[in-house]
Amino acid sequence: MIVSSRKEDHIRLAAEQQDQPASYRGFDDIEILHHALAGIDRAQVDTSVTVGPWTWRAPFYVTGMTGGTETAMTINRALARATAATGIPMASGSIGIALDYPETSPSFTVIREENPDGIVLANIGAGRSLDDAKRVVDLLSADGLQLHLNSVQETVMPEGSRDFSAWLGLVEQIASGLDVPIIVKEVGFGLSAKTLTELKNAGVTIADVAGSGGTDFAKIENDRRSGGHDDYSYLNGFGSSAVQCLLDARLGHHVGPNADPNFTVLASGGVRHPLDVVKSVAMGARAVGVAGTFLKVALSEGADAMTEVLEIWMERVGQLQAMMGAATPGALEYTDILVRGRSREFADLRGLD
Ligand code: FNR
Repeated sequence: MIVSSRKEDHIRLAAEQQDQPASYRGFDDIEILHHALAGIDRAQVDTSVTVGPWTWRAPFYVTGMTGGTETAMTINRALARATAATGIPMASGSIGIALDYPETSPSFTVIREENPDGIVLANIGAGRSLDDAKRVVDLLSADGLQLHLNSVQETVMPEGSRDFSAWLGLVEQIASGLDVPIIVKEVGFGLSAKTLTELKNAGVTIADVAGSGGTDFAKIENDRRSGGHDDYSYLNGFGSSAVQCLLDARLGHHVGPNADPNFTVLASGGVRHPLDVVKSVAMGARAVGVAGTFLKVALSEGADAMTEVLEIWMERVGQLQAMMGAATPGALEYTDILVRGRSREFADLRGLD
């Protein structure tokens, strides 16, 4: 297998970022107003959610990370075993590398081998053709495709693309031409309400805002550069947090009381624990993607620990719902939340109540 030093760098630097958390996390701006008598019986709580054609057991999934190297294969094997054991959906990292270097395919196909019956999503970058999208879905016998928009990352990458002009048209072709659902996502810089509207108009029905505050790909790519004058560190921390994106999505009626029931918004970026999941769902996300927090477990502790973590998260989400009186994740939308700090300022600037 060709060892891509870029993919190895991503894993190493993303894992390091877990030990140096982002200086700003939007989730810390969200406070849930506690109602001491609101609680219900945990046994009456259902944590499952509907996302496109699927029912997910809990309102979270393992979002796209890796593939292409030996380390990536080890991580994918651990994540696939854990998601198979728990029924949590999982996406692969970008399979573009396997189209260019087929010898790297086993680091991706290991996911389907380890999880033959679960919900597995393939992943590819915008800019790829419908034909490429079909090939990566076929490679994993995937149930769906994550299509990532990463113009900030590409800009900072020395070998990155500088032409993003065809992306929306290609997204449209893939949305209409693929026979499995697509989830369009960012990679940690967020999707604005304007972008969500453009995606919806292009025929996309599921989008994951993938905001800032967790894994920072501008910082990762900067750390891979030689430094000196050849640097883009001013882009570190760029983008909108998941919380800001969800506030913006409310403004654009993509979530909340006036939202289109045929368009589903997922959130990710800096989710560290089950309370962040609950906060996101309370803000209108149907479910939440987790990358860096789970990467650390899969990489350093393996499949059994990862399985335990997923089980704990499922149980704790249910417990938090019981504590808040939400029999279903959807009922969390009626939880009183207070928005503070930078997120409050963002809401004020965007004209939200
Ligand atoms: C990623 N992410 C990512 N996203 C994607 O769509 N395709 C990819 O190939 C990758 N690769 C990747 C590698 C590693 C090591 C990490 C940690 C992440 C981005 C990921 O899906 C997510 O959008 C961001 O990481 C934000 O979530 P977290 O990490 O803050 O939970």
